[in-house]
Amino acid sequence: MPRITRGLASTRPMYQVIARKYRPQTFQDVVNQEHVKTTLENAIAQKRIAHGYIFSGQRGTGKTTVARILARCLNCVEGPTAAPCGVCASCLEITASGAPDVIEIDAASNRGINEMRELRENVRYQPARDRYKVFIIDEAHQITSEAFNALLKTIEEPPPWVVFVLCTTEAHKIPATITSRCQHFSFRSVGFEDLTARMAWICQQEGIEADAEVLAVLAQAGEGSVRDSLSALDQAIACCGSTLDAAEVRALLGAFSLESLEMVTQALVSSDSRRMLEVVDELERNGHNLQHFSRELARYFRNLLVERISGADTRLVAASAAERQKLAEIASQFSEEDLSRYLQLSLDLFHDLQFSLQPRFHLEIGLVRLVQAGRLLPIEEALAQLSAPGPRPPVPAASPAQPPPRTGPSPFELDRAQRAPQKTAATPAGDPRERLHTYLHEKGLTHLADAVENARITITGADLNVIAPKSYALYFNDRAMADAAREVFGRPLRVKFATDDAGEPASPLTPAAGNHEEDAAARALANPEVRRFREVFGGEVRKVRNLKE
Ligand SMILES: Nc1ncnc2c1ncn2[C@@H]1O[C@H](COP(=O)(O)OP(=O)(O)O)[C@@H](O)[C@H]1O
Ligand SMILES: [Mg+2]
Ligand SMILES: [Zn+2]
Repeated sequence: MPRITRGLASTRPMYQVIARKYRPQTFQDVVNQEHVKTTLENAIAQKRIAHGYIFSGQRGTGKTTVARILARCLNCVEGPTAAPCGVCASCLEITASGAPDVIEIDAASNRGINEMRELRENVRYQPARDRYKVFIIDEAHQITSEAFNALLKTIEEPPPWVVFVLCTTEAHKIPATITSRCQHFSFRSVGFEDLTARMAWICQQEGIEADAEVLAVLAQAGEGSVRDSLSALDQAIACCGSTLDAAEVRALLGAFSLESLEMVTQALVSSDSRRMLEVVDELERNGHNLQHFSRELARYFRNLLVERISGADTRLVAASAAERQKLAEIASQFSEEDLSRYLQLSLDLFHDLQFSLQPRFHLEIGLVRLVQAGRLLPIEEALAQLSAPGPRPPVPAASPAQPPPRTGPSPFELDRAQRAPQKTAATPAGDPRERLHTYLHEKGLTHLADAVENARITITGADLNVIAPKSYALYFNDRAMADAAREVFGRPLRVKFATDDAGEPASPLTPAAGNHEEDAAARALANPEVRRFREVFGGEVRKVRNLKE
């Protein structure tokens, strides 16, 4: 026989870990996994018991527990029943892992062909006492392929008294020949609410005081595994005694409070790289594991992103209501794009730190990169902001993408001023051109103001007619003109633009150039891309070169 885990009921240790002490004995006690419970209950009620089951799912979600409950249901003296009595010899022995006909095999250490041959032999004999022989094979994916082959025939045509339950965290590693002969149940990760409720109940039974915050920390530590959360609870009780303190429990589990993670987002809001370096320094001085921190940071950004997308009442974030509220507030300071970028970067950082010999440096550069990433704006957005007339739309706090304010006129402007034609006559007050020019100048749209000054502008009906020399054509931006006109003349006007080369002032392009070159220049200047570029960045086209020549 393979090595078999037999119960040691008589030599039970003085302290029993909580996970074992509170292993559910009936379907009702099992948290979550409703689909598994109902299906099995119905099957038992209808006496339609399969000979092979596969229970798959994350560790600590109830696979072994349910397998044992199933064994009880089948072998209880009252049974087969979905509600085993709990007091007969079979029920009691199964609880204590000492039942002669319920055989638990750890496939991690009994995975070879010889063990499976032994098992095949064992299967042939009738149960020693009970109705069924139940084989619970844990870590079933570890069984070698020859061993699976040896088992195949048995699973295909087992004696009527045999039930196999193959438990695994990796169902995909079970050969299809086996899965196709079994009923497959996948066990789900247990949700945050269920976990905290279960732990609150256990704490009550044990006379342990634990507030919502502590329970949240423990539930988060379990990541969906009841067993892992209960192990964390054990640790917390060993450390704190009968009153659990959130800060102590966090320190114990290497978890980070929302406040300590918030330092990172605060530094991001204020684009403060120096603050980031201080965060790392504080972590190191307090002896925190930096890799651990980077993992928590990734989880933090993930939660912020989910809050940003789904709102504070989302059930996709494993946190208490108060924490979710706080997360939603923090998330509202960032855009979805920012947060996804931060999440990606923090995942990269976590990955890097796992192999890093210099975790501190990696963390430092990682956090500084987060600040830099916050300054990235999509180019489209940057262009829109730069070229929009009037007050700029508010820029996210973490994204100071605007160029530094100009001090004094640009060299181009000075240069142009020198070469611009002298104004001949004063423009009459109230002249549309002069009014527009003044307005644009005040708005700081100097290029457009310049161009307007060199144009002829009239208003006919709802049209604003603009006739400008070719060389100024590219300074005109219909939208900016329309906006300005609405401001200046108090009504919407349609901008109608035309060029006129008669009386053209000295072109900013080399005037000595021949006709051919002038044409090329005019075509280049009229190019929408070039126009757009100049609207946004200002500057001036000095020379047009045909690269094909
Ligand atoms: N769904 C659940 N409901 C209640 N307790 C659970 C559940 N899943 C796991 N546990 C707890 O975790 C312990 C280990 O569960 P177990 O069934 O051995 O997990 P698995 O076999 O899926 O790894 C149990 O003793 C029990 O205390
Ligand atoms: Mg198990
Ligand atoms: Zn019973």
